[in-house]
Amino acid sequence: MRILFHAIGTKPGPWVDGLRAALPDADVDAWAPGAAPADYAVVWAPPQQLLDEQPRLQAIFNIGAGVDALLPLRMPAQTLLVRLDDAGMSVQMAEYVCQAVIRHVRELDVYERATREGQWSFRKPLAREDFPVGVMGLGVLGTRVAQALRQFEFPVRGWSRSPKQLDGVRCFAGDGELDAFLAACRVLVCLLPLTPQTDGILNRRTLGRLQRGGYLVNVARGGHLVEDDLLALLDEGQLAGATLDVLRQEPPPPEHPFWRHPKITLTPHTSARTDRDASIAQIAGKIRALRRGEPVAGVVDRARGY
Ligand SMILES: NC(=O)c1ccc[n+]([C@@H]2O[C@H](COP(=O)([O-])OP(=O)(O)OC[C@H]3O[C@@H](n4cnc5c(N)ncnc54)[C@H](OP(=O)(O)O)[C@@H]3O)[C@@H](O)[C@H]2O)c1
Repeated sequence: MRILFHAIGTKPGPWVDGLRAALPDADVDAWAPGAAPADYAVVWAPPQQLLDEQPRLQAIFNIGAGVDALLPLRMPAQTLLVRLDDAGMSVQMAEYVCQAVIRHVRELDVYERATREGQWSFRKPLAREDFPVGVMGLGVLGTRVAQALRQFEFPVRGWSRSPKQLDGVRCFAGDGELDAFLAACRVLVCLLPLTPQTDGILNRRTLGRLQRGGYLVNVARGGHLVEDDLLALLDEGQLAGATLDVLRQEPPPPEHPFWRHPKITLTPHTSARTDRDASIAQIAGKIRALRRGEPVAGVVDRARGY
């Protein structure tokens, strides 16, 4: 069995070594143009050339949860496309989103600014009941985030394509229930995959349906957000602020207004990083299962886009 590794912006050495250790009977190499035919590829944002040169791949393993960079590429219909299934990301996402929501509701940003200016003064605490949090996308990551928010006793709502039942979470499903979901939220967390249906879904119309003084946490993809709409809604006071981990252009150009906007907290796409060891263990386990002829979790439905 032969495996190729290629991930843009990532040194291949530790991945290749890790895959060799996890699959001692495999021949594992970093991909280079003209590489000998392989059975599996482990990739992040590969060039079209890799797929064109490797038409016999049985499966392509994406070392992230979102496959929006892979789906536009041409690849044989029979090649399985497999995403990471948590692999250490959901706990990071839960940490990140809970801190963003708590920081806003406990006004920790306001306190930090005040103490830096030498002020030691208290504010009337806000009630978490007044901050229902809506999670868009109740998949591997969204479900974990919704459950973590429940632990802090926030009212939690969720929205997905197909109907769901989650303990303590009021669930909405499909386009028909989107407006009712939004109207029931003051804080909105986006954990959707980026697909033609969800591109630009965070816009003036949808964000305008949130309860006034709403707050946005986008940890999914920059393409979900219409950036000018966010700026206008912040100016108008419909939204109180936003925490953004992802942007349409990463990094944004130096003149981008989000860098220094007083109501926007920006982080460099770091809310849930790929955990190399956990990912290698998961991918190796799936390769072994596929070789035994067993099904694996995390196979992408290409028509659906995630
Ligand atoms: N910032 C970061 O560091 C980072 C890290 C990892 C992942 N991400 C992003 O997070 C996304 C979610 O990851 P995941 O593992 O939770 O994905 P997932 O398990 O595939 O879950 C996706 C969820 O979105 C719902 N959904 C998809 N299209 C929809 C639509 N048109 N309308 C309503 N709901 C829709 C799905 O509904 P159903 O349940 O009905 O199918 C599902 O609940 C990834 O795609 C990626 O873009 C970001």
